[in-house]
Amino acid sequence: MSSNDDESISNLSNNVTFQEVVAARVSRRSFLGGGLAAAGAISLSGVSTLLKAVPVSCSPGRPLLGFRGIPVSSADAVVVPEGYTAKVLIAWGDPVSDGPPFLPDASNTAAEQALQWGMHNDGVVYFPIQGSQRGLLVQNNEYTDDGLLFPDGTANWSAEKTAKTLAAHGVSIIEIKEELAPKEQKGRRLRDWQVVRPSPYARRITGATPITIGGPAAGDPRLVTSADPTGRTVLGTLNNCAMGYTPWGTYLACEENFNGYFRTNGAPAPGSIEARYGLNATGAGFLLHTTDSRFSVASEPNEPNRFGWVVEIDPFQPNSSPVKRTALGRMKHEGAWVQEAKFGKIVVYMGDDEVFEYIYRYVSNLPWREAVKKGISPLDDGILYAAKFNPDGTGEWLPLTPDNPALAGWTLNDILINTRGATDLAGATKMDRPEWIDTFPNDLTAIATLTNNTRRGTGTNPGVDAANPRSPNPYGQVIRWRYDHDWTEPDFEWDIFALCGDPDVAAHGSTINGDKFGSPDGLYVAPSGRLWIQTDVSANTINSGAYVGFGNNQMLCADPRTGEIRRFLVGPNACEVTGVFTTSDERTMFVGIQHPGEPPAGVNDPANPKQFSSWPDGPSGGRPRSACLVITKDDGGPIGS
Ligand code: FEO
Ligand code: CA
Ligand code: CA
Repeated sequence: MSSNDDESISNLSNNVTFQEVVAARVSRRSFLGGGLAAAGAISLSGVSTLLKAVPVSCSPGRPLLGFRGIPVSSADAVVVPEGYTAKVLIAWGDPVSDGPPFLPDASNTAAEQALQWGMHNDGVVYFPIQGSQRGLLVQNNEYTDDGLLFPDGTANWSAEKTAKTLAAHGVSIIEIKEELAPKEQKGRRLRDWQVVRPSPYARRITGATPITIGGPAAGDPRLVTSADPTGRTVLGTLNNCAMGYTPWGTYLACEENFNGYFRTNGAPAPGSIEARYGLNATGAGFLLHTTDSRFSVASEPNEPNRFGWVVEIDPFQPNSSPVKRTALGRMKHEGAWVQEAKFGKIVVYMGDDEVFEYIYRYVSNLPWREAVKKGISPLDDGILYAAKFNPDGTGEWLPLTPDNPALAGWTLNDILINTRGATDLAGATKMDRPEWIDTFPNDLTAIATLTNNTRRGTGTNPGVDAANPRSPNPYGQVIRWRYDHDWTEPDFEWDIFALCGDPDVAAHGSTINGDKFGSPDGLYVAPSGRLWIQTDVSANTINSGAYVGFGNNQMLCADPRTGEIRRFLVGPNACEVTGVFTTSDERTMFVGIQHPGEPPAGVNDPANPKQFSSWPDGPSGGRPRSACLVITKDDGGPIGS
């Protein structure tokens, strides 16, 4: 999401451990001299030291990167390397099954939108039905642009407009299959993916779908509202950014900037839970509160507590109720990446995407198969931790439990509902906006994007530390950590995979080995070990300021063994490239193009919806549309090879 909200600050806590990190960092810095370039140099030397301690992933073998990298682009088009084809599989408003078609003037009703692909798609997962040829594609619909969603924008706001806004949010599920393309080329099979219409699996989960609240906080008085005296059922899921998937075949949708849908009366009291989660009187500009009192905090003070969770969805059971899994904590959840540990426990990695927020880990108490056999969700019974990155390249997971002395007096539900407040006290490291996380399963290594932090080191804000070594930090970094024996260990070693920016401009302090990029966000480790990185330079920064010459948002592929990074895809104007997943044979890749044509102000002018982009429909279309791409290699090979 390009919302400026990502860059606001809700964390005003003063972690003692963080100050220790800064002090250590500053002493190292003074050894080498000051300045931004020196920060890069320090990190470079740190990286080379840490690289010895942290073996890079994948065994030696054939080069992972086989394509010719492409230049930056400012074209209103998707650009991929020679030998590849990218086509739109589905776009906002297209029917998920045999429902109503998209109307280019955006005059579809709320009821119609509830049968169509939602707006502004983000994290995506392919669930196989028949290997790499047929499956379910599940993708989040993070947020909406009122200027595109309605013919007349926010004018004449009504309950119907609130309903359509909610219907365009949530999660979209489609069935897709690969068929032989109409023609064969040089005897090779051309892959052509289609949406199966109708499909019994096709489904929309929206901002109005009844969702069960599960886990320890279900029924807590702080989750009770006038519409739900049980505190166990909430209507809808909102601002689903990235995602995850479980070994038992479910999808995890993660509620990120949920605060933007609510309005408070005046500024929340300093130190209140509302303040800590960024609730305020103006929200992100949505007008839901004008027709639905649950979005007015004065009317329903507990409704915001029912958002900010990870939502589990079983895509193979179209009538099943999604469940908000409260044991995973409440934050601006970016995603929830599940890694099976030794003996079957699961580890879930999560980022809280706001400046100076934290990286989290959840570990199930039981091996997941045993939990399922006992009728317990592995996501309901476990321990939540937050990461502390020490300046010497070690790190530790701080338990967020009532028996942690730093949390004396906190109940488990206090911790789960106000996870941010608990983590402040536990003393985790304040990061530069944690976004996606993924794992190299064979190497006990996790990797995460920290997208940027233009507030670091400004005013009274925290300065640099070893894991967040630049101030201010417009370009972001990619960090990774590794265990000795198992994913459940309490300690780890970490290093910085890349400080982003232009490696040819010394002042950026970039350590990229390859093509320039900044604001890393989407991240995906393909089965081969190819590392895919997507960027989210916000719409008001693309090709300007620190990003002059960087072109539109992009996707790159890295070889984690060598660190080489090559640009593979550039998106259309003013979009974010977010959401990436491959079939297990890696011969098909799904990539999300979100918010093409988003204006610097955030919301389009309904009188001129194509002012910034007309992708993907071009001159004949009515407005730009977020869409999911399907990418294939023309010779039928793995993507990136
Ligand atoms: Fe929705 Fe943190 O990106
Ligand atoms: Ca993101
Ligand atoms: Ca982002």
